[in-house]
Amino acid sequence: MIASAISRGEVLTYLENFLDYNFDSLLKSVEDSWQPADLLPDSRFDNFLEEIKQLRERAKELSYDLVAVLIGDTITEEALPTYESWLMSTDGLTRDPNSGWMKWIRAWTAEENRHGDLLNRYLYLSGRVNMREMEASTQYLIADGFDLQTGNDPYRAFVYTSFQETATNISHRRVAALAKKSGDLMLAKLCGNIAADEARHAKAYKGFVEKIFEVDPNGMMMAFEDMMRKKIVMPAHYLRELGVNIGQTFGHFTDAAQRIGVYTSADYTDILEDLIKDWKIENMTGLNDASEKARDYVMALPARLRRVAERMRIPELQYKFRWIEG
Ligand SMILES: [Fe+2]
Ligand SMILES: [Fe+2]
Repeated sequence: MIASAISRGEVLTYLENFLDYNFDSLLKSVEDSWQPADLLPDSRFDNFLEEIKQLRERAKELSYDLVAVLIGDTITEEALPTYESWLMSTDGLTRDPNSGWMKWIRAWTAEENRHGDLLNRYLYLSGRVNMREMEASTQYLIADGFDLQTGNDPYRAFVYTSFQETATNISHRRVAALAKKSGDLMLAKLCGNIAADEARHAKAYKGFVEKIFEVDPNGMMMAFEDMMRKKIVMPAHYLRELGVNIGQTFGHFTDAAQRIGVYTSADYTDILEDLIKDWKIENMTGLNDASEKARDYVMALPARLRRVAERMRIPELQYKFRWIEG
C-alpha cells in the first residue's frame, strides 16, 4: 500500500475550516427546521380524532409493498444511534466538543433524529402496522449493529455517507411520489421533507470528498475504489424480524423496493455515475500508478453493474412481513 503524503488527521483539520465556513448552508438551525409535529395531526385539538380517521382511510389505500418499504425505511432511520457512534469512531477527528467535527456530528444527528420520529408516528397512527413487531426489528438492528465496511477511515466513511444520503434522498422522494399518487398527501409531504434533508446531507458529504480530492487525490481515489469493490452495503441489509432467520427480511424488503421502483439496482449505478461526474474522476490529475488503476476500476464499474442488473429478475411473490397487519 502506498502511503499518502498527507495524514488523515491533517486533511480533517483542513476540512474543518471549510466546514466552519459552510456550516449554515449544510445544516439547518433548530429555528429553521421543520418538526414532526408540524406535519401530523395535533392531539390538543378537537378535530384530532377526525383527522386520524381520515389519515387511516388514506393509509388503507397504500399498497402492501409501499407499507413494507416505509417500515424498513423507518427502522433504518431509527437506527440512528449506530450511525452516530460509527461517525464518532472515525480516525483523525478532533474530539474537542467545540470543534467543527463534533458540532457537525451533533447537528447532523439532531436533524436525522426527526426522520425516525416522524415516520414512526405516522405509521403508528396509520393502523397498518404491527408496531410491536416493527419495534422489535428496530431493537434488533441497533443491538446487532452493522458493519459499513469503512474501518475507521474518514475517507471511506465520507464515500459511504455520500452514497447513502443520496440513496435515502431517492427512496424517500419516490415514496413521496407513490403516496401522492395513492392520494395520501400528508404522507407525501412528510417524505418530501425528509428527502429534502437527505439531499442537503448528500451535498455536504459529497463536498467533503471533493475537498479531500483536492489535497489528497491518491488517498481519496484508493478509498473510493476500495468502497466500490466492497459494494455499499445498506443498513437495511441487517434488518431482521422476530423469529425470522437473519438475511431473509432484507431480501424481501429489497424485492418490495424494486417492485415499486423506490430503490433499484439501476439507482445504485446511477448514484455511482453521478459521484464519478461530481468528483470529476475522469479528468483528475496528480495520480500515481496505483490510483490510476483504482480510477480505471471505478470508471469501468457502471457499465459492468448495468450488465449484471440486466440479468437480474425481481420476484413477483409477495412475502408476508410480520410488521404488517392483515
Ligand atoms: Fe434520514
Ligand atoms: Fe441524511
